[in-house]
Amino acid sequence: MDRIFSGIQPSGEIHIGNYVGAIRNWARLLDQYECIYCVVDYHAITVDYEVELMQRRILETATILIACGLTPEKCIVFVQSHVPEHTELAWIFNCVTPIGELERMTQFKEKARQHRQNINMGLLDYPVLQAADILIYKAGYVPVGEDQVQHVELCREIARKFNARFGETFPEPQVILSTAPRILGTDGQAKMSKSMNNAIGLLDPPSIIWEKLRTAATCPHRERRYDPGHPEHCNIYTMHIAFSKPDQLEYVEKGCRTASIGCLECKEILSKNMSEELIPIQNRVKGFNEKPEYVMEVLTSGADRARGIARQVMEEVRTKIGVKFGGLETKS
Ligand code: TRP
Repeated sequence: MDRIFSGIQPSGEIHIGNYVGAIRNWARLLDQYECIYCVVDYHAITVDYEVELMQRRILETATILIACGLTPEKCIVFVQSHVPEHTELAWIFNCVTPIGELERMTQFKEKARQHRQNINMGLLDYPVLQAADILIYKAGYVPVGEDQVQHVELCREIARKFNARFGETFPEPQVILSTAPRILGTDGQAKMSKSMNNAIGLLDPPSIIWEKLRTAATCPHRERRYDPGHPEHCNIYTMHIAFSKPDQLEYVEKGCRTASIGCLECKEILSKNMSEELIPIQNRVKGFNEKPEYVMEVLTSGADRARGIARQVMEEVRTKIGVKFGGLETKS
């Protein structure tokens, strides 16, 4: 089976944008691929963060992944910092990556702009660590959203450069692009994010989901109830695509265009569907929170399994780059 790797940062509350754009797709790939999913904590420290909150966030993120069906029976789930081979390989990749490539990365430029007071080496090096995440498992496929395509392309280039210099070692991983439409925040303007205060949390109870949807922005061209709407311009409709079944989708689409239903009815249907999908996940999260040892165990054994692969690849890499002493290699 082909191998998949993907990662999610433990930065803040997970929202339905993360769920629809990443986690739910990851779960759909479990049967067709050998999947490795990672909470990338070392990526999250490249920007300012609250040290006291980090551990809880890592655990929370992992708990949600498992509750969304990424269970240890079906895939490897683990925390990046538990497998030090990621950062070890990143160092070696640093030595084949041109700085110019990193300076060109859109995400680096954006984050450098947002965090002017803390433009650190890690922020620039972020895509190299990401390449190491993927290639330490020789993964062939990487399910991500549009915004990560550039990073995966760089990963391919790093693989090519390494292979050209040290001999055929790594595959050139391909993106599996999420087909889900991009959900904007409840303001209908910006990308959904907790810091923008426009996010619907994956763990929000139905009453909060309804409150956030009730007040959320709709099609800007539909000012009055009897104006015909334009679903293609409406973020609520985008959410319907992600959460509603075809028959209801058609009902709200037609109803909106002909003004036979109002935005409130449309939102009520969405709210119900969204809650129905999220409640079972939320219940599993509650269950896991009652016995945190379980999630810890999953992560420990996940790291063991990941490390089994990562160690072997590191051995091969050390040999290929000429630093390994035959026979003298000590076991770590
Ligand atoms: N950069 C990714 C994001 O922000 C997270 C990530 C880290 C990742 N390492 C990865 C994604 C490896 C895919 C593969 O979404």
